[in-house]
Amino acid sequence: MTRHFLTLNSLTGEELKNILTRASELKTEFQEKRMQQSQPGRVLAMIFEKSSTRTRVSFEAAMAQLGGHAIFLSPDDTQLGRGEPIEDTARVLSKMVDAVMLRTFHHEKLERYAANSDIPVINGLSDTYHPCQLLADMQTYFELRGDIKGKKVSWLGDGNNMCHSYINASNILGFQLAVACPPEFYPDEEIVATAGTNLDIGSDPRAAVSGADLVVTDMWVSMGQEEEREKRMQVFKPYQVTSDLMKLAADDAIFMHCLPAHRGEEVTAEVIDGEQSVVWVQAGNRLHSQKALLEFLLK
Ligand code: CP
Ligand code: NVA
Repeated sequence: MTRHFLTLNSLTGEELKNILTRASELKTEFQEKRMQQSQPGRVLAMIFEKSSTRTRVSFEAAMAQLGGHAIFLSPDDTQLGRGEPIEDTARVLSKMVDAVMLRTFHHEKLERYAANSDIPVINGLSDTYHPCQLLADMQTYFELRGDIKGKKVSWLGDGNNMCHSYINASNILGFQLAVACPPEFYPDEEIVATAGTNLDIGSDPRAAVSGADLVVTDMWVSMGQEEEREKRMQVFKPYQVTSDLMKLAADDAIFMHCLPAHRGEEVTAEVIDGEQSVVWVQAGNRLHSQKALLEFLLK
């Protein structure tokens, strides 16, 4: 059966850990300039219905470095933008390439795509999840601090796609997740219901950060929410990650952000450009963790 990667739950805990281990091996090979071209001739089609810097470049570079190739497709210059059904696109691409990455709005579109695809489908971000980012985040934590099991992770701000993927990760990897969001921006109830006692949701950023080993935030206005900008700027203000807030976390706590970041909004420049921030390592790990994912799905 074709394996897809639509959410982190598409993997077992063991598979996820194997991918993270492999990601670090691939990173060493990359750094020591002894990369193996494990996927010669394999082709990844990448459909982007939203903007991207990291996801696009990391997947494209990953395929090139693995000896394969990536094709960038946007609705603006494919028949998708002129109404060709996503199901038909899925059937056609299944005959031509080896895997597909899709970045879209409604998560349901990814599910429809996958249901009609004979080749692996990767979620490159939907309104509901961003599992590829979690591969990089978890690789980064394991590399810098060891196993995340039993650690406390604090999520601040919007209960959005990234937050949902953190909820999935907390279940699979067994860390405590303290979410602090304005009540009207709590994460999705159905996704919350999948979590056990390791998830705590509230609206007090100080309580959420207290003793945390990892502090994470994301932009307050995600792609597609631009019209809500003014309101969001007001509501999220108390959730800004500041140096004062970071003082409440564990002494060796690290700060992550999937990027792009907005200094002065969800995080101060002092924090994101400061010593506890690992955002550049995290962004770089998109390349290595997705290579490991591609190897897993293409094998
Ligand atoms: N973090 C992330 O997915 O970045 P891009 O939107 O630039 O791909
Ligand atoms: N929550 C953000 C993540 C961007 C990488 C968005 O969906 O726009």
